[in-house]
Amino acid sequence: MPAMSAQVTVMPSGHTFTIEGNDTILQAALRAGIPLNYGCSGGNCGECLARLVSGEVSKVHPHDFIVKEVDKAKGALLMCAYTAVGDIVIEAGIAGAEDIPQQTIVTRVKAIEPIDESILALHLMTPRSQRLRFLAGQSVRLEAGGAAGDYYIASCPCDDRHIELHVRRDRQAFGEWAFAGLSKEDAVTLSGPAGGFVIQLESRRPIIFVAWDDGFAPIKSLIQHAMSLEVAESMHLYWLADKLAHYQENYVRSLADALDDFEYRMLDADADSAQLAERVLAGHPDLTRYDIYATGPAEFLDCLRAGALARNLSVLGWHGEVI
Ligand code: FES
Repeated sequence: MPAMSAQVTVMPSGHTFTIEGNDTILQAALRAGIPLNYGCSGGNCGECLARLVSGEVSKVHPHDFIVKEVDKAKGALLMCAYTAVGDIVIEAGIAGAEDIPQQTIVTRVKAIEPIDESILALHLMTPRSQRLRFLAGQSVRLEAGGAAGDYYIASCPCDDRHIELHVRRDRQAFGEWAFAGLSKEDAVTLSGPAGGFVIQLESRRPIIFVAWDDGFAPIKSLIQHAMSLEVAESMHLYWLADKLAHYQENYVRSLADALDDFEYRMLDADADSAQLAERVLAGHPDLTRYDIYATGPAEFLDCLRAGALARNLSVLGWHGEVI
């Protein structure tokens, strides 16, 4: 009998998550934002093979993929077909950006949230049978009404049916179309994901996030992913407004109210890149134990990186994305 609630520990990454009821190991992991490697999610491909190290599992879905007896004897199981009976430890691979296949999905507009005359938040819903596999920080291509554009995903991979994107009116044909002609329930074809600006799952260090204008979208996704994985000791967000306002400031404030370990500062991009980088770094004299994830123009990122390295940031702790 599956347990009502059981804890799963994934080796060697050390991630843990909880399985409720009859959920498969894979479903529960993805809901927790842990990107275990998988393919079809329906028992056909064998890409979700893992090894049971300890504990007991129970099959909840039939599968066509044949697990060899010799492998079964070593604990091999398909994570999309089994659930846990009590706490378990498994050995399973975590997917990186290079492991995630290209997908094309016809989504529906669930909501259009106009923020001001220059940007809107677009909420797309995938079919139940075709969820988007992606990592926080990645982008997708959107097409509708003959218009197309590339956008960073602003939502968490832990909700793989609901995709949030921040669409600027003044950039790319899709932006004009979204403001002028897009309505609830319209079809939007999404393809992707692309990009490697993703969170380093093995790090447990405090994280500084730096967003520039709508470069907040991938940062928002990364923050949500970091929260669901509980990977960071603490999080600091600096959001620089240049051509746009801090368009989701209320959301950021609600995070700061809800979390003890989350601080933020809203800054105006009203100085040169070197001065702005100094403003971001002013409260962090020693970055030895930090990771930085930053979006912005190349010149600003260069200044920020140089300033951070001068404050002892490890080169491996720097993650910049030019927007
Ligand atoms: S994901 Fe294809 S068999 Fe499990």
